[in-house]
Amino acid sequence: MRMVDLIEKKRDGYELTKVEIEFLINGFTKGDIPDYQMSAFAMALFFRGMTKEERVYLTKAIVQSGDQIDLSGIVGIKVDKHSTGGVGDTTTLVLAPLVASVGVPVAKMSGRGLGHTGGTIDKLESIKGFHVEISNEEFTRLVNQNKVAVIGQSGNLTPADKKLYALRDVTATVNSISLIASSIMSKKIAAGADAIVLDVKTGSGAFMKNLEDAKELAQSMVEIGNGVGRKTKAIISDMSQPLGFAVGNALEVKEAIDTLKGQGPEDLQELCLTLGSHMVVLAKKAADFNQAREMLKESIQSGQALQTFKTFLAAQGGDASVVDDPAKLPTASYMVEVPAKTSGYVAEITAETIGTAAMMLGAGRATKESVIDLAVGVVLHKKVGDHVEAGESLVTIHSNKENVQEVIEKIYSAYKVTDEKVDAPTLIYTEIQ
Ligand code: URA
Ligand code: CA
Repeated sequence: MRMVDLIEKKRDGYELTKVEIEFLINGFTKGDIPDYQMSAFAMALFFRGMTKEERVYLTKAIVQSGDQIDLSGIVGIKVDKHSTGGVGDTTTLVLAPLVASVGVPVAKMSGRGLGHTGGTIDKLESIKGFHVEISNEEFTRLVNQNKVAVIGQSGNLTPADKKLYALRDVTATVNSISLIASSIMSKKIAAGADAIVLDVKTGSGAFMKNLEDAKELAQSMVEIGNGVGRKTKAIISDMSQPLGFAVGNALEVKEAIDTLKGQGPEDLQELCLTLGSHMVVLAKKAADFNQAREMLKESIQSGQALQTFKTFLAAQGGDASVVDDPAKLPTASYMVEVPAKTSGYVAEITAETIGTAAMMLGAGRATKESVIDLAVGVVLHKKVGDHVEAGESLVTIHSNKENVQEVIEKIYSAYKVTDEKVDAPTLIYTEIQ
């Protein structure tokens, strides 16, 4: 088989076979197929796309390029959740203990973040003593015992994806539905989940700016998951403004605690109940969505969800007393209010710009080597649709630098206030299965 023939075949719009796709992923991972040929192939694929079958073969080949996590020692159906990313997305911190509290095993492998705020591990590390450096045996034992544990990324997972993503990044081929879907799904599948719930974001702060593209991506990922034998469901949710109020690591931990107490922001709570209910159904712990939702609401009301969070933190060395006393979380030296300049209705909060403001304060990583400040970030007080009086605070900045003038300007540039009444955006657009 020759790579040049596969490039030509895709260029001319033909469908590749399983053997051909395996040949090109194996060859590329080993270094037998050079970057220039893979680049040409990626561009051909970008324009021609792939069939459902090709996407399944591609995903399987990427999974098989490296290690696969064996979660067979964990009792029950392991359900993982993946979000396509956004600003201030605190859902994992809430969902992991919430669904675990009703008996769904949550075996979470997480990474550090790149961009506006940290990843799940960074956020959890704002709790004193908490660590994710545990052995695979300990990880399995903890999930069986407490139904939830988080471990840092280890092993050589999906090396083909790492290599291919780096190439796509510099050849203008990132934005292909086939390539994004197989990239995301290969990582979830290699991480060992039996079933997967996807939160595909749409809006200004998301990868997929419009609903149609988000639906297409979700459909493609669901087909891949089900095609490789992992039950997969997706919802499409709004990322036209940040989720919840808090953007920043310790601030988001506080927000997650509030939500587990039933006192969190409405949008975050609703999204967690929706995603969580799908997880509970896929794990076969409830007969249907409504029953699952009632179970989760009951667990929040009874304090069971919060108790599960405490047990989980303590089991991994964390100071669980922060749950009752969030003042023990890292706090910033300066709190600066950003007052509204005019009265009216909030019409827009550009999520990306708020993310950038949090980055400027030091809440996120510009490069893998950056050190992040866990205490800093922003807390929004007004969301789209809210009425605001001139002089009322739109946002509180939590900073360790005294001068935050540039951050204030950034926040003003994210907010648009109008005279006309504005409706709050739809949070959950649709569900795909
Ligand atoms: N996220 C991924 O993991 N892969 C992509 O290709 C795009 C976003
Ligand atoms: Ca948030």
